Amino acid sequence: MTTTVNPYLDGNFAPVRTEIVGEDLPVKGEIPPDLCGIFVRNGPNPQFAPIGQYHWFDGDGMLHGVEISNGKAHYRNRYVQTKGWQTEHESGRAIWSGLLEPPKMDNPHGAYKNVANTALVWHDGRLLALWEGGEPYQIKVPELETLGSYTYGDQLKTPFTAHPKVDAVTGEMMFFGYSPFQPPYLYYSLVSAEGKLVKTVPIDLPVGVMMHDFAITEHYTLFMDLPFTFRPERARRGEPVMGFEPESPSRFGIVPRHGDNSSIRWFESPACYVFHTLNAYEEGDEVVLLACRMNRTNVLSDSVDETTLDAPGIDVDERSHASSPRLYEWRFNLKTGAVIEKPLDDIASDFPRVNEQHLGRATRYGYTARISPQPMPLFDGLIKYDLLSDRSQVHEFGKGRYGGEAVFVPRPGATAEDDGWLLTFVHDQVENTSELVIVNAQDITAQPVAQIKMPQRVPYGFHGVWIAQG
Ligand SMILES: [Fe+2]
Repeated sequence: MTTTVNPYLDGNFAPVRTEIVGEDLPVKGEIPPDLCGIFVRNGPNPQFAPIGQYHWFDGDGMLHGVEISNGKAHYRNRYVQTKGWQTEHESGRAIWSGLLEPPKMDNPHGAYKNVANTALVWHDGRLLALWEGGEPYQIKVPELETLGSYTYGDQLKTPFTAHPKVDAVTGEMMFFGYSPFQPPYLYYSLVSAEGKLVKTVPIDLPVGVMMHDFAITEHYTLFMDLPFTFRPERARRGEPVMGFEPESPSRFGIVPRHGDNSSIRWFESPACYVFHTLNAYEEGDEVVLLACRMNRTNVLSDSVDETTLDAPGIDVDERSHASSPRLYEWRFNLKTGAVIEKPLDDIASDFPRVNEQHLGRATRYGYTARISPQPMPLFDGLIKYDLLSDRSQVHEFGKGRYGGEAVFVPRPGATAEDDGWLLTFVHDQVENTSELVIVNAQDITAQPVAQIKMPQRVPYGFHGVWIAQG
């Protein structure tokens, strides 16, 4: 298979190059009057034509924000102006190549560019744009201006995952940083509710692995040491340095929230890969993990075509292909050491989210983006899982319309876990326009309650956040 145009620089994967503001956007339906705040989504948007092969993960971070109040919506998009973005901006061209090219160790600006393009977290009144290989960037709200890298008063000495976990009850934020080649390969950190980085402890792993996400419960933190490894000896043989090892076990480490490497307990199950967890919680002697599990991954292979076929959940034939992510449950028994894993669905989906007011506690509902059976990572609907009754419902975006991760926004004053809305950008391929879609989470098969038309196309991206007003 040959590719003339990189599919990740084409269609609605292609970057937009203008940073604009759009006031009082047209709305189909009605924006709920009690929905007040700002929705911000991060994603890759290369500032310049790339050097060499381009991977979807390479693009400079761009934030798309929709501010909503009193039934009206306003849009703005801004690059995350990282140090690398600024250096390339001043040069007027790309300086760094991407993940599919060998790193240029002699680059005076560093071998890799922190693109801050993956996700966002709101903690202690501060918005951070995240990339798992480096430090966070602080973003001014609602302007979406980059204030600079944020290192907790110089206390941060490790990379910072794109998926930190905030405990809504205690206000604490847990995060980790992994290092592909340097033992101990993993560091675990905790930020207090007051925004102070109170501890960073090493966690021993046998070898460096790509660790994209983790999970918390009320008392524990759960790490996934999955066999997608970094081995320098592969590079010496002329192979990609990253590889999936189907014969190796998946290891799950459970550590008390305030514990360290001496108190971690490891559980094993067959080889798999997980990009994203939905949630985890404690039940009796068990720690329960819910996540989107793949039998294997090759997401950072050196071939764009292979990447296209093996990226999260991409499957050309059917939604239930073996390498596509599906919602799974693991039960780790802290008393007996037993592990039970089982699929909760055979439909492929990823980008799982819950009502984060309940993160780390048992949740009845989970929301994922359903994967469209096509070569590219396109999401054609949202799935709402009722984990209590073992049932699911689907919100279809409609023919030729694709979205992404939906963020759950609780209705102010809500008592029911699913009383709120799901927000996601949807692109219409025929019209080549984008909308922010607002779906009633208690009635997800219905038409969206509001479709807010964006003043320009919003490229497909990664993760978003909702920041409630006030
Ligand atoms: Fe992610």
